[in-house]
Amino acid sequence: MRTRPLKVALLGCGVVGSEVARIMTTHSADLAARIGAPVELAGVAVRRPDRVRAGIDPALVTTDATALVKRGDIDVVVEVIGGIEPARTLITTAFEHGASVVSANKALIAQDGAALHAAADANEKDLYYEAAVAGAIPLIRPLRESLAGDKVNRVLGIVNGTTNFILDAMDTTGAGYQEALDEATALGYAEADPTADVEGFDAAAKAAILAGIAFHTRVRLDDVHREGMTEVTAADFASAKEMGCTIKLLAICERAADGGSVTARVHPAMIPLSHPLAGVRGAYNAVFVESDAAGQLMFYGPGAGGAPTASAVLGDLVAVCRNRLGGGRGPGESAYAALPVSPMGDVVTRYHISLDVADKPGVLAQVATVFAEHGVSIDTVRQSGKDGEASLVVVTHRASDAALGGTVEALRKLDTVRGVASIMRVEGE
Ligand SMILES: NC(=O)c1ccc[n+]([C@@H]2O[C@H](COP(=O)([O-])OP(=O)(O)OC[C@H]3O[C@@H](n4cnc5c(N)ncnc54)[C@H](OP(=O)(O)O)[C@@H]3O)[C@@H](O)[C@H]2O)c1
Repeated sequence: MRTRPLKVALLGCGVVGSEVARIMTTHSADLAARIGAPVELAGVAVRRPDRVRAGIDPALVTTDATALVKRGDIDVVVEVIGGIEPARTLITTAFEHGASVVSANKALIAQDGAALHAAADANEKDLYYEAAVAGAIPLIRPLRESLAGDKVNRVLGIVNGTTNFILDAMDTTGAGYQEALDEATALGYAEADPTADVEGFDAAAKAAILAGIAFHTRVRLDDVHREGMTEVTAADFASAKEMGCTIKLLAICERAADGGSVTARVHPAMIPLSHPLAGVRGAYNAVFVESDAAGQLMFYGPGAGGAPTASAVLGDLVAVCRNRLGGGRGPGESAYAALPVSPMGDVVTRYHISLDVADKPGVLAQVATVFAEHGVSIDTVRQSGKDGEASLVVVTHRASDAALGGTVEALRKLDTVRGVASIMRVEGE
C-alpha cells in the first residue's frame, strides 16, 4: 500500500459533509485498505468558521473555499455545499488545479452537468455524483456502468422522500394535503419552505440526471415536464383506492416506442397496488428500471439524510481515489445517442378523469362523444349522483397527453359539464 495519503478537500460540512468527515475518520483504515492508500482530510470549507464541529480539527476549517481548491496538492474535492454558485465555480477551479470531484449537488448537475463534464474532460479528471439522486441508493453507477451493455427503456422512480411521506400519510390516514404536510414538517421530513419538494423541482432535477444517463442523451432540467402534488386531494385517494391504486409523485423517463426520442416528466400519478413502487412507504425512495435484457430492476432505500447520503459520497470517493492511484479515469458523460427530447404532448399513458356533470339523460353520451372525437378511447365509466348533480369518473385507454388535453378543453365547454374535478395519469401497468 502507498503510504503517501491522497488529500481530500471537503467543501461544506453540514448535514452531509459532517457525516462524510465522520466516516472518513472512523473508517480510515478500511478506506485505506480498499483504496490502496490512506486518505487525509486536508481542509474543510464552511460559511461559519466558529461553529463547533465534532470530530473536525479546527485547524482544517476555512471560509476560503477558493484557496482550498487552488492549493494544487488536493487529489479529490468533495462538494457538499449545494446550490449553483459558488459550487459551480469551485468545481471547475478544482479541475483546473488538478483535483477530481465528487458532488451531491443535483441542482447543479441537472443544470450544468454537460459543462462540468466538459471541464472534467478538459483536465482529464473524474466527476462523480452518486449522491445527487436518491441519496444512499446506488443508481448512477448501476445505470452508468452495470447496465452499460443493456438498453434501458424506462426509469420510473419515487425520488423525493418528503413528497412520498406526505402522499403515504394521505393514503394511510385519509388526511388532506395540508394536514399531511404539517405532519411532515413537524417530524422534520419537510423543510420550512417545502416548494422545491412539493412542486416537483427536486424530483425534476433528478429526472433530468437519470434520463441523461439512462438514454445516453443530454436531458436538461428545462426538458423535464413538471407538475407538483399540492392539488392531490383525499378524494383522489378515494378514487385511486376504488381502482386498486395509490398515488405517488413519480419521475418518469421513457424511450418512445419507436426508440427515436425520449421524454422526462414529474407529476403525481395513480399506480396499481400490485406495482413494486406502490409499497414504498414513508420517506423512502425507489427507482424501477426496465431494460431490454435485464428486464425489470428495482433500487430501494433511504433517499436522503446525512449518513445515507454520505455513504454514496464515500463510495464515489473510493472509486475516484482508486482511479487516481491507477492513473485512469472513470466513465465520463455518455451523450452519444443525442436523442431528441419530446414534449409532454407526445407522452402516451392512461388517464383517470373526474367530472361534475348535470344528472340528466344524454350527458354520458355527450361526454363519450367528446372523448371519441379526440381519439381518446374510454376503458371504464362510473356514474353516481342525485338531486340533479352527478359525478362521472372516466378511465381511458392509452392516449397522448395532447389528445387528452384537447378532450378536457372540449369537455369544459359542454353546458352539462359543471367542472373537471381532477385529472390523474395512471402509470405502471
Ligand atoms: N441533506 C440530504 O439529505 C441530502 C441528500 C442528497 C443530496 N444532498 C445534497 O448535498 C448537498 C449538501 O446538502 P446538506 O443538506 O448537507 O446542506 P447543509 O446542511 O445546508 O450544508 C451546507 C454546507 O455548506 C457550507 N457552505 C454554504 N455556503 C458556503 C460557501 N459559500 N463556502 C463554503 N461553505 C459553504 C455550510 O457552511 P456552514 O456549516 O458554516 O453553514 C454547510 O456546512 C446539497 O447539494 C444537497 O442537495 C443532500
